[in-house]
Formats: sequence, structure tokens, C-alpha cells
Amino acid sequence: MAGVAPGKTYTPGLDFSGVAYTCPAKKAQSDADRAHEIIREKLPLLSQIKALLAVTFGDRPTFFVDGRANQAKILDSCDDEPDCRLNIKPEYIIQFYENKLEPRYGLFKDAFFNEASMPSGKIPVAIKFADLLTPHPPTPAKPASAFSRLPEPTEDVEQVKRDIEEFGYGLLTTALSATVAQVDGGPDGPNQRLWTLINKGDDFLDLLNHPIIDEFVPWALGEHAVITTYTANIARPGNVPMQLHTDQVAVQPPIRDIAFGINILFYLEDVTEKNGATRVYPGSHLGQVAPEDIFTVEGSHPAEAPAGTALIVDSRIWHATGPNREAAGERPLILLFFMRSFIRQQENNFLSLRRSDVWPRLSDRHKRMLGFYTTGALGGVDGEVREGVFVEWKEGVGGCGSRTTAARQVGKLAWINIGPETQDLVPWVISHIYLGGGRVDGCDSQHS
Ligand SMILES: [Fe+2]
Repeated sequence: MAGVAPGKTYTPGLDFSGVAYTCPAKKAQSDADRAHEIIREKLPLLSQIKALLAVTFGDRPTFFVDGRANQAKILDSCDDEPDCRLNIKPEYIIQFYENKLEPRYGLFKDAFFNEASMPSGKIPVAIKFADLLTPHPPTPAKPASAFSRLPEPTEDVEQVKRDIEEFGYGLLTTALSATVAQVDGGPDGPNQRLWTLINKGDDFLDLLNHPIIDEFVPWALGEHAVITTYTANIARPGNVPMQLHTDQVAVQPPIRDIAFGINILFYLEDVTEKNGATRVYPGSHLGQVAPEDIFTVEGSHPAEAPAGTALIVDSRIWHATGPNREAAGERPLILLFFMRSFIRQQENNFLSLRRSDVWPRLSDRHKRMLGFYTTGALGGVDGEVREGVFVEWKEGVGGCGSRTTAARQVGKLAWINIGPETQDLVPWVISHIYLGGGRVDGCDSQHS
């Protein structure tokens, strides 16, 4: 795993700590050089940022991309105050260029752990700059006001499907006849997200029997979609509006041609523009489309509907939780988010699910939705990947018991098969031949 040091070594001769193919310092230099090269190559386009951008690669000297005139320039120094400052890993510049990383994700993904990596100043300048480095810069999302019609809440399932195809979302009324949520309170903060509803009560198990799932999920994602998250979102007055995003942001490299997920949002109260309706950019699920600024919902549409409605959204649509500007009250939603079966689930259901009391209450339907089922040669336990097998904890693997005799015998067989006389050679072969003969290119560290 790149960037993560090996842990404890158990086998003499298989100690790979301190061994690498690439010298980190050399790699950093070569990434920085390549990133500069890419920016130089893109200069004919970079005047479109119409601004002065300061760029820093970690602790390297800041340089400036000056796009204020017709021909953009790179400056080593500049006395003018930049419109935007960007501190970014050069490898991200390369990944933007190679279409391996979506700019609205790549520019902000490190900020959670390292505030210094957050662009400052006019954020749209940084977004435009990164977009222009990509092979296919996106066009801005169309404002909602440009549409002559938008989806309205309806009981007509086929109309909702047509709306999802055309606009990226649809609103099915009468999905719920009564409030089913157990809002479990928690801290008094204005933005609340309750995770892992599967553990929070039988009503949440029962909601997974809703026919809306059967109607829309296979239609959108095929037969074997799994629950990636099952949560509640409560917007209270004074909440912080979320930044615009798509729900398939984890799909990197970014693939916009396919919807990898479908999110069903059950409205437990009337949802209005004022109490924090989800803001959507209609039609933004189609094409290479992205908002120019992810910190404003200007031009978006509030998906208003009465309590009991389900908002169903294509995971490619640009959207955000809206601001709740009411004086009191809450805007609770249940979000039931499915993704295609080969996408890693956001909630690690296999570790999150409470085995003691929730697991015995699950039906086969629940288990399939949560991923305890093999499909497409994925999801097996200890090698069992036949299609359509329910899986669970198994003696001798996972968290179940200790290493068994059978497991030890398998390990021994692997050594015997290569012949006892070569057993001692195997670690040497791995470390000396597969890792290039004992010396890392250009670095001083030696193999043992
Ligand atoms: Fe979302």
C-alpha cells in the first residue's frame, strides 16, 4: 500500500521495511518536474483562469500562474497579491492531467487532515485551473432557471423514472405513510448524521422491505447492488450547507458515463426550500458537467416535496444539503444509498453490523443488500466465490476462533510443494530477485 510503512515482520528473510523500488526524494522531485512541465504545456489554455494564482508544491518555492492577460505566464516571483493560493501535491497535477483524479475531489480531499492544503482566496480560480489541466474540462452545470419544466412530486412511478433519466432525480410521493425514524438525538449540533441505521431498530430493517427498492434499484444498477450507506441526515436551523458534490465521488478515476449508485432519500417531514431541501442541479448527471464553485448553491433547485415522498437521485448529479433557515424544527431524511456490487461500500457493513442481536434478525434479503452474498466472483469468504452463496463468519478465518489445524496444514503444504531444500531460499529469492538485486535505484538503503 503506497505510503504506508510495513508493520511487524513475522518471517525471517521477508523483512521489507526500508526497501523500496523508488527513492521518495527522487520521486518527489520527478513529480514536481513533471507537474511544472504539464502546467507549461497547458499555458495556452490557462489564460482562462483570468486571475493570478499562487501555486506551492509542499515546501518547495511558490510560483505563480498569471492568467490575467491573453497569454498566461509562469512567474517565479510576483509582488501582486494573488487571487487564489493553492498548495497541492504535484502528483495530483499529474493525475488531473491523466484524468485519474476529479478536480473538485482532488483539490479538497487532503484538507480534512491538513488545513494548509485548502485553497484560499477565490476558490473558483483553483477549480478552473485544475479543470484546464484535465483532458476534457467540464462545462458549468446549467442553472435550474434554464429549464422550462422540473420534476414534481408524483405517484406515477414511470414518470419518476423518466425524470431520473432526464434530470438526474425524481420525487415519488406516498413512499411512506408515517414517520418511521427513531431520531436518536445525539449532540445538539445543527447538522446531524446518524450512521449505520441497520443497527438502530427493527423499523429500519423493515424499511428495507420497501418495494421502492425493487422498483428503482435493479432498474438503475442491475441485480446485485449493495447498500453503501444507510443513514439519517437531520438539518437543523443554522446548519452549515454542504459543499456541492456527486455521490460517486469515490469513483476515481472519474467516470461520468455510468451511474454507479442510486440514492433514495425518504422525507420524514415536509421538505421546503426554507428548511433545507436538498439542492440539485437538474440534468447535471449527464455529460462532462460540473459547477464552477462548489461552495455556493446559486443556480441550483431545492427538491421540495411533502412528508412521505422519496427523492431518488442518480449518483452523478451535483447536489448538496441545503441551508435550513427556519427558526425552529428539524428536517430529517433517511438516506438509503445503493451502489453497484463491485464498488467498495462506504460503510463497512461487515464490521459495523452488530452480530449479537442484529445479525440473527436479518432476512436473506437484508443479507444480500448488505453484501453478505457472492456475486460476480466477489464477496467470498476463505475462497468461496461460487455465484449466489450467502456468506458469514467462518471458523478459522476472520474474527472467528484461532488459526486452525487445517489452516496450518495449508501453509505447510505451500512450502512442501516447492521442495524442502528450497524453503530457505524463497525469502531470499523474493527479496533479492523480485526487488532488483539488493539496491534501490539511486538510494542508499540496502536489502538485507
Ligand atoms: Fe450527497
